Amino acid sequence: MEGDNVYIPHVMKIEKVIQETGNIKTFHFNFKDQSQKDKFTFKSGQFAEYSIFGEGEATFCVSSSPTRMDHLEFSVMKAGKVTAAIHELQEGDEIGFRGPYGNWFPLDLLQGKNLVFVGGGIGLAPLRSLIWNVIDNRDSYGDVIVLYGARSPADLSFKYDLEAWDKGDAIDMYTTVDRGDDAWTGRVGLIPPVLEEIGPSAQDTVAITCGPPIMIKFTLQSLAKLGFTPEQIVTTLEMKMKCGIGKCGRCNIGNIYVCKDGPVFTYAQIQNFLSDEF
Ligand SMILES: Cc1cc2nc3c(=O)[nH]c(=O)nc-3n(C[C@H](O)[C@H](O)[C@H](O)COP(=O)(O)OP(=O)(O)OC[C@H]3O[C@@H](n4cnc5c(N)ncnc54)[C@H](O)[C@@H]3O)c2cc1C
Ligand code: FES
Repeated sequence: MEGDNVYIPHVMKIEKVIQETGNIKTFHFNFKDQSQKDKFTFKSGQFAEYSIFGEGEATFCVSSSPTRMDHLEFSVMKAGKVTAAIHELQEGDEIGFRGPYGNWFPLDLLQGKNLVFVGGGIGLAPLRSLIWNVIDNRDSYGDVIVLYGARSPADLSFKYDLEAWDKGDAIDMYTTVDRGDDAWTGRVGLIPPVLEEIGPSAQDTVAITCGPPIMIKFTLQSLAKLGFTPEQIVTTLEMKMKCGIGKCGRCNIGNIYVCKDGPVFTYAQIQNFLSDEF
C-alpha cells in the first residue's frame, strides 16, 4: 500500500482484455509503478478491491497464480454498476487496486494430498489461481482432478486453460455443460451427478469447490455421498463487501467476517452458519 493509508489504491494498467463469455471478461493488468510491483505478493484465494474513478469499487479474486507474476489477472461477471463499467475497460486504461485481502487456500492442508477441484461458471476464477499454482509445484501433490461445468458451451470460461489442462498430463480434466448445442461433442450433465460418476476416492483427498450457491449445495451432497467429511472440503464464501479489511462490519455471517476470516473456509468451519440454501 502507498504510505500508511490502506484505502489508497495502487494504479494499475490494463494490458489485455479477454471476452470469456457473453457476460464475463478477464483482464490482464500490471502495476504502473515497477517498484510497487517488485514489493507485491499474494496467495491463491485472496481477493482485492478494484476501483473505477467515478463509478466505485468492487471485489474480485486475483484469478492468476502467484507462481506466474509477469502480470496479474481478474475475471468479472457483469452484475451491476461497477462491473458494467469494468466491462468497458480497454487495453491501456487504468484502474485502482487495493489488496491483497483475506485468507487463502490452505496449501499446508493440501500438500501431499489428492485434489479434486469442482468449479462452476465464474467460480473457476479463484480455483484456476490454485490449479496453476499446483501445476507449477506438481511434485507436492497426489492425483489431481478438475471438474468444470457451465450452463452451455457458450458459458464455458477460460477455454484456453481447459484446453491446456486437457492436453497436459498434470491433471485429469473433465468438462461438462447442462445443455449442449449442435457443435458440442463433449459431456452433458449437471456437475453433481458427473462428479458422482467420476467417483474420486475420498482417501487422502481434499475437494476444493467454488461456483453458484445451488451448485455448491448439491456438490456438497455428492461429496458427502463419496465419503468426503466436512474437514476434507474447502470452499469460498461471497458477501457484499465495503472495506475488505475487517473494519466496516458489512460482510459478517454470524460472528465471522468473510473479508478477514475468509473468503476461504473448510465446510467444517461454516456448515453451521450457512442458510438452508446450502
Ligand atoms: C471475496 C469475493 C470475491 C469475488 N470474486 C469475484 C470474481 O472473481 N469475479 C466476479 O465476477 N465476481 C466476484 N465477486 C462478486 C463481485 O464482487 C460482485 O459481483 C460485484 O461487487 C458487483 O458489483 P456491481 O457494482 O457491478 O454490482 P451492484 O450494482 O453492487 O449489484 C448488482 C447486483 O448484484 C448483487 N451483488 C453485488 N455484490 C454481490 C456479492 N458479493 N454477492 C452476491 N450478490 C452481490 C447486488 O445485491 C445486486 O443485486 C466476488 C465477491 C467476493 C465477496
Ligand atoms: S468488508 Fe468491511 S468488515 Fe468485511
